[in-house]
Amino acid sequence: MTAIQIPETRESAADIARLRRQLARQETVLEITRSFAAAPTLEQLLLAVAEQTCAAVNADRTTFFLVDEKSNELWSKSASNLEIKEIRIPKGVGMAGHVAVSGEVLNVQNCYEHPIWSKGMGPKIDEQTGYTTRTMLVMPVKAGSGRIIGVFQIINRLHPDGRLAGRNDPTWPVFTDEDVEFMESIAASAAIAVQNAYLIERTKDMFASTVQVLATTLDRRNPETAGHSKRVSLITEILARRMGLSPLEIEKLRYAGLLHDVGKIGVPEAVLTKAGKLTDEEFGQIKRHAATTREILDQIEFLEGYEDIPRVAGQHHEKLSGKGYPLGEVGDDITLGGRLLAVADIYDALRQRRVYKPAMSIEQALSILHSDLDRGDLDPKAVALLEQCLDEIEAACEPLRPTDEPVETPNGANPHTPPPAANGAGGGAPSSSPQTPAPATAPSPARS
Ligand SMILES: [Fe+2]
Repeated sequence: MTAIQIPETRESAADIARLRRQLARQETVLEITRSFAAAPTLEQLLLAVAEQTCAAVNADRTTFFLVDEKSNELWSKSASNLEIKEIRIPKGVGMAGHVAVSGEVLNVQNCYEHPIWSKGMGPKIDEQTGYTTRTMLVMPVKAGSGRIIGVFQIINRLHPDGRLAGRNDPTWPVFTDEDVEFMESIAASAAIAVQNAYLIERTKDMFASTVQVLATTLDRRNPETAGHSKRVSLITEILARRMGLSPLEIEKLRYAGLLHDVGKIGVPEAVLTKAGKLTDEEFGQIKRHAATTREILDQIEFLEGYEDIPRVAGQHHEKLSGKGYPLGEVGDDITLGGRLLAVADIYDALRQRRVYKPAMSIEQALSILHSDLDRGDLDPKAVALLEQCLDEIEAACEPLRPTDEPVETPNGANPHTPPPAANGAGGGAPSSSPQTPAPATAPSPARS
């Protein structure tokens, strides 16, 4: 490539310097746009925008306000001293509030001479804090439709060496037309990022409320299992936290817990609430719910990163030994989430009174979990975690258990509950979940 020869005149040298500055600023805009896109939440986006803008125009402070149409306010988050605070101001009030209504750009060289700022709270705050607000650039952030969705408030341009001018300093650097132009580019990309963040948050909220409704519908169908999905979700979340899983994994398991029994919608009411022994066919119907959970959830378009919820939820009756259902998956085929869910599900089913069995004490429930462990059905790490977190689990689940639950005696034994040895199907080792129909003489194990 041949370099373009530019004659060395005073004018062209100034032009080159200006072009270089423009190029550098375009690169900065690109970089800032990229960082906006990478902010995982709206809160982090607000902080990132404020921080990047400050650095980009060499200013001392920046606040990026968003318009809250519902409350007719501007709101923002500011980070100081490792604390994140929410700021709210009514639309129309102060410099940012004024711009949110008028849509104009305010480039103020001396705030103390500006009619809005000087009559507002600004001078008083400066007096209290000892800070001097002098120059200010306030500009609207508009959506593609022209609607004002936010406001930038940039305070005090710094000297080129990064120094903040003092109150009595004769020369104060001011924001230039180039700064305004530059901020317009940043505002355009901030507007897109904010709208995307809003859209993602709304989609997540809609998804979360849909899951809640599904879980509540299921739990309400049978008062005996009321709260089971929520408790399993809570227990799984506690186990996942203790295990140190990522926030995304924890959130996924919370959803999988809420949805794990959604397939019970396909099981006849009479079978679900039957007090006596179940026939082979009835057991088959109950066991089918795990596959139905997977089938139902497979039809949901999950957000990116949440796609394996159907698989995890559908595995809650699988056993490491391969004797579980619906697929009889073995060992590593069962996801970590599926293993945690299985332990949480069995524990809660044992701890809750059902029409076919009384609630078990914590000790009895643990004893049955250990029998399952000895058979190689459950993940030893998941059971150990549950034992470590018992206090937290019980405290979280207790408010969600039906109020007519039998009360435990002080030593932990439940007077309404038969000893574990008497609870096993067919007189063998006690089992937490059915492989075969329960014999007529023995109480049924938990149908989780
Ligand atoms: Fe289940």
